[in-house]
Amino acid sequence: MVILPVGSSYGKKVMSCINHLTFSIPSGRTLESPLQIRLHQASTKDENQGENETNTGFIMWPSAVMLSHYLSNNPHVLRGDDTPDGDVMELGSGCGLAGLTAAALMQNDGSTSDDKVVFTDYNRAVLENLKRNIELNDFVVQHEVLALDWFDQQPLEDSSDPVEKEANTWVDMDGTSHGQFRLIIGADLLVCTNDAELVAATIYRALMEGGRALILGPSSNRRFGLATFPDACREKGMTVTVDENILDANRTSGFDTERSRQKLMNGLELGGYNQRANSLGHDFTVFTIDKPITTTSYGLG
Ligand SMILES: C[S@@+](CC[C@H](N)C(=O)[O-])C[C@H]1O[C@@H](n2cnc3c(N)ncnc32)[C@H](O)[C@@H]1O
Repeated sequence: MVILPVGSSYGKKVMSCINHLTFSIPSGRTLESPLQIRLHQASTKDENQGENETNTGFIMWPSAVMLSHYLSNNPHVLRGDDTPDGDVMELGSGCGLAGLTAAALMQNDGSTSDDKVVFTDYNRAVLENLKRNIELNDFVVQHEVLALDWFDQQPLEDSSDPVEKEANTWVDMDGTSHGQFRLIIGADLLVCTNDAELVAATIYRALMEGGRALILGPSSNRRFGLATFPDACREKGMTVTVDENILDANRTSGFDTERSRQKLMNGLELGGYNQRANSLGHDFTVFTIDKPITTTSYGLG
């Protein structure tokens, strides 16, 4: 099964990108025709970000395509067969391809129709673009866009305040607390060395006990932070499985290494990437993070 970009509606180049893309997702067992995801890449004229924000979320990254492949090929993850009931969140959504794919697949699966998909990022222009991308797709499935900065999610286990230490919430950029999720997804989040600790702390705050996070990024020699991410999660009591080089290992059903690379590259070219040689040379790693259920969650204390 593959996710194919099938066209661009405007072809207008901004930041070397074609800014309107349409992806086609094989729909599996319930629909005869593929699901279509429409996506707009943000432009420099949308830029109104704060001085500490980066514009990496203006464009759609290779890992988002791969995470969408992964979700499409592993429907049990979105169905939540192994997790409690609850909503789904995308961290560092950028253009939101992975979250949009999750919403489309959930919408196509009646069993999860009550679950909400929450898209998050810290860049204001990216958040505006995310809202536009959701509108482009006419979802019936519940959805929300929230401003979440990983820097705001303090590592609660270090708190001396017992109430705060046991808090089961995360905070948005206005300081409002929100509930936790059964599934957290994220593509290409670990770019700088301190991202590992920040993303691990955010997952810890935002994930329900018994919940799962799937974080997919380029293999470790391409990004700082990937190597230390598993230990940052384990230090918080979460378990981590690392599945490296998923293209070469051909571990995710439907991947035919060369054909998948080629299709990925076609997608990236459509997205405006001029890094064909670089991208062809790299593979991807999937981190599966599980937050164990403790006795307190049963109210036995
Ligand atoms: C490399 S981009 C990946 C975007 C998207 N997931 C994709 O794969 O196309 C990293 C994303 O993380 C977001 N980001 C970076 N630092 C962040 C922070 N401290 N809090 C929340 N989001 C952040 C950026 O705005 C950007 O959207």
